Amino acid sequence: MEVLSAASEFFPLSKTGGLGDVVGALPKVLAPLGISTTTLIPAYPGVVEKLAGVHKIAEMELLGESADLLAGSFEGVSILALDCASLFARSGGPYLNEQGADYPDNWKRFGALSLAAAYVAAGKGGAWKPDLVHLHDWQTGLAAAYLAAFGVDVPIVMTIHNLAFQGQFSANILYDLELPASYFDTRYLEYHGDISYMKSGIVFSNAITTVSPTYAREILTDDMGMGMQGVLSERRERLQGIVNGIDTDVWDPSKDSLIPVRYDRRSLRRRDINKAEILKRFGLIEDDGPIMSVVSRLTWQKGIDILTAVVPGIVDRGAKLVVFGQGDPLFINPLIDLASKYPGRVAVFAGFSETHAHLLHAGSDIVVQPSRFEPCGLTQLYALRYGAIPIVSRTGGLAETIIDANEAAMAAGVATGFQFNPGSAEDLYHAVDRALRAYERPDFWRRLQSQAMKADFSWKRSARQYAKIYSRVLKSGRS
Ligand code: ADP
Ligand code: GLC
Repeated sequence: MEVLSAASEFFPLSKTGGLGDVVGALPKVLAPLGISTTTLIPAYPGVVEKLAGVHKIAEMELLGESADLLAGSFEGVSILALDCASLFARSGGPYLNEQGADYPDNWKRFGALSLAAAYVAAGKGGAWKPDLVHLHDWQTGLAAAYLAAFGVDVPIVMTIHNLAFQGQFSANILYDLELPASYFDTRYLEYHGDISYMKSGIVFSNAITTVSPTYAREILTDDMGMGMQGVLSERRERLQGIVNGIDTDVWDPSKDSLIPVRYDRRSLRRRDINKAEILKRFGLIEDDGPIMSVVSRLTWQKGIDILTAVVPGIVDRGAKLVVFGQGDPLFINPLIDLASKYPGRVAVFAGFSETHAHLLHAGSDIVVQPSRFEPCGLTQLYALRYGAIPIVSRTGGLAETIIDANEAAMAAGVATGFQFNPGSAEDLYHAVDRALRAYERPDFWRRLQSQAMKADFSWKRSARQYAKIYSRVLKSGRS
């Protein structure tokens, strides 16, 4: 089976979060199941240089912009890079300019990416034509509307990685998008008077997936459906949650070339050297106390303000905290204030670095993820594999991938971390307290680490679930 996957990120060519990791891993894990994936991504600066065997396969006019479609491969994975300097050769990130604001023409940038995906799926992007199209998040959701408008009968799977980002734009752009005016209708693209690219992916696809079964249930509710619960409920029989796996080639403490010292379950003591490196690199006091860390987008979703509220309690208990990430100054500034109040105990570093991310998983004792909602979350899965114990809010993928270390779960030998009720600083503090007490019992802690490291979140099972959905929609076709 030949699949066109279309997305705005592909690790390691481009990444701002988990979307890139998942889109980058899928082709590799689906290949052994007889699924050959070609991934269409924007040619952001630096992307084309990393591809092997690049050649132009088509020229396209996309919403008034001229683009080249380049074919190549990255470590054996087929890539189509949409080379359109006017849209993608920018000095900021994939979505935001250097000042951290959305590019004002994101509607056009990702409208054009979606249109290119639709052209390829329709067999108008060179000689190749896929059997099925897999779209990821709002940035490619509009491809489903284009395919419907072209009358092209190719099965579509749409994956929602995060419903908080919907690609909602003024209805005025419908004409510029070259879509039929009749699509401005509640059954299609209309969304609270605007149009929504995410809704396009939902209403025009054959199957909808999201990144955990819990999140698949949550997004049908008024509390967590982000306004899309009605549309999703109408198509609930097509909606399925498939939990993300992790790329065990990239995230394996026994082979990781980004960390000072490699280790496995039987050589956990070696982590101490990585821990010492964290203390040095992040300017923390060099004592034996536990290190807690956060590697994350620093935003409301991630509950960073909830963590901020418990920092004094963390420090009082003799633990140290490293926060590493990029995001909203509203959430970063209060943490920076705390870092100056507690020098050597609290470190806050802005930036994006794979090396720092790997080190923090390989040397921290605890990884905290206090998300208000979390479709899947990958950080807690990396933490498990690296023997850093996760403290997570009981929501979305966090709820189903981490087993709370209560007495029964410890007795059964299955506990892997600590859970608390989302949104509550008091509950987070209670979980921190439980974790720090557990840390004071070395045997208990070693057992917990060992159980965490045994948890299997490789892609095997989830890849089979995607393969099943692909076969189903291929058989039943568009309906
Ligand atoms: P989300 O996609 O919502 O941001 P996930 O937990 O699914 O959350 O994925 C986040 C991914 O981004 C992980 O691979 C994590 O290591 C990575 N990441 C987040 N912030 C940074 C950062 N500042 N530097 C490096 N990697 C980061
Ligand atoms: C989104 C979600 C995150 C998920 C990732 C990959 O960014 O916020 O929970 O793990 O996509 O699917």
